[in-house]
Amino acid sequence: MPVTVSYGLLLRPSSLPVKVLGIETSCDETGVAVYDTSFPGAAGLRAHAVYSQIALHAEYGGVVPELASRDHVRKLLPLIRQTLAEADLSLADLDGVAYTAGPGLVGALLVGAGVARSLAWALELPAIGVHHMEGHLLAPLMENDPPQAPFVALLVSGGHSQLVAVDAIGSYRLLGDTLDDAAGEAFDKTAKMMGLPYPGGPQLAALAEHGTPGKFKFSRPMTDRPGLDFSFSGLKTQVLLAWRDSDQSDATRADIARGFEDAVVDTLAIKCERALQAAGCEVLVVAGGVGANKRLRARLQAMATKRGGRVCFPRPELCTDNGAMIAFAGALRLEAGQRSDAAVHVAPRWDMATLPVVESGVVR
Ligand code: KG4
Ligand code: ZN
Repeated sequence: MPVTVSYGLLLRPSSLPVKVLGIETSCDETGVAVYDTSFPGAAGLRAHAVYSQIALHAEYGGVVPELASRDHVRKLLPLIRQTLAEADLSLADLDGVAYTAGPGLVGALLVGAGVARSLAWALELPAIGVHHMEGHLLAPLMENDPPQAPFVALLVSGGHSQLVAVDAIGSYRLLGDTLDDAAGEAFDKTAKMMGLPYPGGPQLAALAEHGTPGKFKFSRPMTDRPGLDFSFSGLKTQVLLAWRDSDQSDATRADIARGFEDAVVDTLAIKCERALQAAGCEVLVVAGGVGANKRLRARLQAMATKRGGRVCFPRPELCTDNGAMIAFAGALRLEAGQRSDAAVHVAPRWDMATLPVVESGVVR
C-alpha cells in the first residue's frame, strides 16, 4: 500500500515572509535552493544549485539507486553550504526547511529527508515534505507574471506524463495519464536504442535539430480516439523497427530523431488542446524535464496563441529536477501554516490528489 506523508500539524496561516531552504534528492540530481517569499516571482529565488549525477550513472545506462543515495550523502551538505553562501545567508536566517518526501527512489529520498529534518530540529524550524510533482507543477509560478489557478498543467518528466486540472494550489484532478512509458522515458529509451548515451532525452532533441522533418513519419498515439491518456511504448517500437531497417548513418539517426520528436510533440499538443477544451480554461502550465524541449515549447506556444490563451513554462533549467521548485512549493505551504510531522518519513509512491489545498495563504 502506498505510504502517504501526513500534514499532521496545521497551524495558523502566517502572512509573514519566509526564507525557505529547499532540498531535492528524489532521483539523480542533488538540488538545493533558498526561496524568499518577500519578493514576488523570480526575484524570490535567492540562490539555487544542482549537482547532476549523470556521469556517475552513465556507464550503467540508467540510474543505479544505491549509487544515487550514496552520492546524495556526499554532495548534499557541501551544496547547502554553497547555496547559502551564494544567497548571502546563514542557517540562522532561515524560517523553514522543505524537502522532497516523494515520489522517488526511497534511499535517495531518505537522504534529503534525513538532512532536512535534522536541520529543522537543530535550528528549531518548521519543515515540510513536498510532493516532487507538485514542485514541478508550481515551478512556472516562480517566474514573473505568474498564472493564477484555475489552469491545466502538463507534467512531462522521466516518470510522469500527466494532464492535471489545477482548481487551486493543492487541488489537483488527474485528467489524463500515461498507460505505459512517460514522455521522458520514451525519449530516453528511444535515444538508447539508437546508441545515444544516457540520459538520451536532451541528446535526442539536439540531434533532431539536424534531422529533416517528414523523412520518417511516426504515428501520434491515441489521438484518433477521444480521451486524454497517453501511450508512448508503441511509438518506441516503431522507431526501433525504422532504425533496424535503415542504413544507420548519422544522417538517418538525425532524421529518425526528428520524426520521433515531432510525433511526441504533436501528440502532447493535441492532448493539451483537448484538456483545455474539457476544462473550459485557456491557461496551460507546462513542467517537468521534457518541458525543456524547445520544439514542444514552440508548438504549445503556437497553440495557445491561436486559441487566444496563454502557456507558461519555467525557464529550462527549472524544468528538470531542482531544489528551487521544492523551496517554492514548501514556502507556499509553510506560509499557509502547514508542517509535516517531525519524523523522517518518505513516500516513494504518493498520489498528488491526496494533498491538502492551499488557497491565498489559507489551508482548507
Ligand atoms: O523532471 P526530470 O528532470 O526528472 C524526473 O522527475 O523524471 O525529467 C527528466 C526527463 C528525462 O527523461 C530527460 O530525458 C527528459 O526529462 N528531458 C528531455 C529534455 N530535457 C530533459 N526530453 C526531451 N527534450 C529535452 N530537451
Ligand atoms: Zn522530476
